[in-house]
Amino acid sequence: MNAITRRSFLKTAAVAGSGLVFGANLVRAQQNKDEVLDIALIGFGAQGRVLFESIMKLPNLRFRAICDLRPAQRRYVRLWVKKTLKQDVTEYVDFNEMIAKEHTENVKNGKKGLDGVFIATPDFWHSPMTCACLEAGINVYCEKMMSDTKEGARKMVKAMQKSGKLLQIGHQRKSNPRYIYAREKLIKGAEICGQLTNANGQWNRAVTTDLTCPKKLELPKEVLEKYGYKDMHQFLNWRWYKGLGRGPISDLGAHQMDIFGWFFDARPKSIMASGSVDFYKDKDWYDNVMCIIQYDTFQKRNARVFYQVLTTTSAGGGYFEQFMGTDGAVKMSENPALTKIYKENGADKAKWDSYVANGLIQKSADPAPSKTAIADARESKALDTYAMPDNLFPTDPTDPSKSAPIHLPHVLNFLDSIRGKAKLTCDGAHAFEAEAAVFKAVDAIEAKKELYFEESDFVA
Ligand SMILES: NC(=O)c1ccc[n+]([C@@H]2O[C@H](COP(=O)([O-])OP(=O)(O)OC[C@H]3O[C@@H](n4cnc5c(N)ncnc54)[C@H](O)[C@@H]3O)[C@@H](O)[C@H]2O)c1
Repeated sequence: MNAITRRSFLKTAAVAGSGLVFGANLVRAQQNKDEVLDIALIGFGAQGRVLFESIMKLPNLRFRAICDLRPAQRRYVRLWVKKTLKQDVTEYVDFNEMIAKEHTENVKNGKKGLDGVFIATPDFWHSPMTCACLEAGINVYCEKMMSDTKEGARKMVKAMQKSGKLLQIGHQRKSNPRYIYAREKLIKGAEICGQLTNANGQWNRAVTTDLTCPKKLELPKEVLEKYGYKDMHQFLNWRWYKGLGRGPISDLGAHQMDIFGWFFDARPKSIMASGSVDFYKDKDWYDNVMCIIQYDTFQKRNARVFYQVLTTTSAGGGYFEQFMGTDGAVKMSENPALTKIYKENGADKAKWDSYVANGLIQKSADPAPSKTAIADARESKALDTYAMPDNLFPTDPTDPSKSAPIHLPHVLNFLDSIRGKAKLTCDGAHAFEAEAAVFKAVDAIEAKKELYFEESDFVA
């Protein structure tokens, strides 16, 4: 396996500011060749595959076991790891059996157990799987949402605290050097937006059809029922069903509602929300949701967020979180092409020129002049646009000509935290606090009124 080159690391680090922490971790992880971690994965579906692709790019790991209900998924992982890493992977259907055989029995016999387990199963399995791993003494990386119920999430935090083991939750933007840079250097450091008054964000996507699979890959009814699924349709489309997931506002909103509180450095004060099943009439959960959330920001001022998840239209520019203030706006997205910085026309030009001169941001092409007459004298003229420095995100450890996979910094943060060389960027207790708004959005839809947050919403 190729390693990240020193030249590409330095190029990243020179401009990354706080991204340096990540780059340094990557180099250190590579240098400590003796620190081999034994790991396993539970759930090799769409997201399990994404995590696996990041994991496989990192050195000093022994991939010991794969657990999934589907034989084809397990076989794929076992054969891939055997062929590529020459390592033997054991397949498991049941996670309790995996924990017992790969960890508890080994530890009892003085052999090496598992250092970390990655969990990427449907949300309703997160809490029992995470608690079982932590209680056995294994560190856990579990995908978001922590659980489909607040009680399940609470149990995870308590198990983390009691076991003293690490619990990383898969809000991967928390380890993304571009997001860290925007928060620490632009929003909080330079206060580039002036007084933050608003934010908006969305995840809009077009109508999708239900997931299906060929008959020969369907699981037997007894397996489905044993693991909590009514039938194969529910097994594949679990997100839409009560008791299994919490619908699009949870599935997609979890990533973004987390960012508002993180960038404002504040807990939400109140939330209003509206949602319903407008299109997918056979589903349990709301397909379209709009929320208004209020915060007292780190500037000790009120800021209002408008956030929406629409699953019936992709109009409106995909997915982003935008922070707006009296001097400018910072629009963030995991997709760098959607990230932009805007200067308000009335903002101090000399100050913004100094941001550019100091390399904090870079100027983008001037906006094209409008060909049509301005309809109303009160309309603001087009704003000057800027960009964040290039190369904040690290390169691919196995191919420095490419960008690293989007989840790799978060996965590495977990592994380096096990090695004692980093601190988790999204541990269970912080994730619980961050997910409070997502849980309350559903409560607010049902209550049909503005709800206020209490201390107990944030503390497990
Ligand atoms: N961080 C992100 O950007 C991101 C993106 C997508 C999904 N996710 C999260 O990842 C998780 C998985 O989502 P997905 O889209 O991969 O779902 P999926 O349905 O594609 O995959 C789930 C996998 O888990 C397996 N599974 C189900 N129940 C199991 C059990 N009891 N024991 C063992 N295996 C079991 C299934 O066979 C399947 O392979 C969810 O929590 C989701 O919210 C995170």
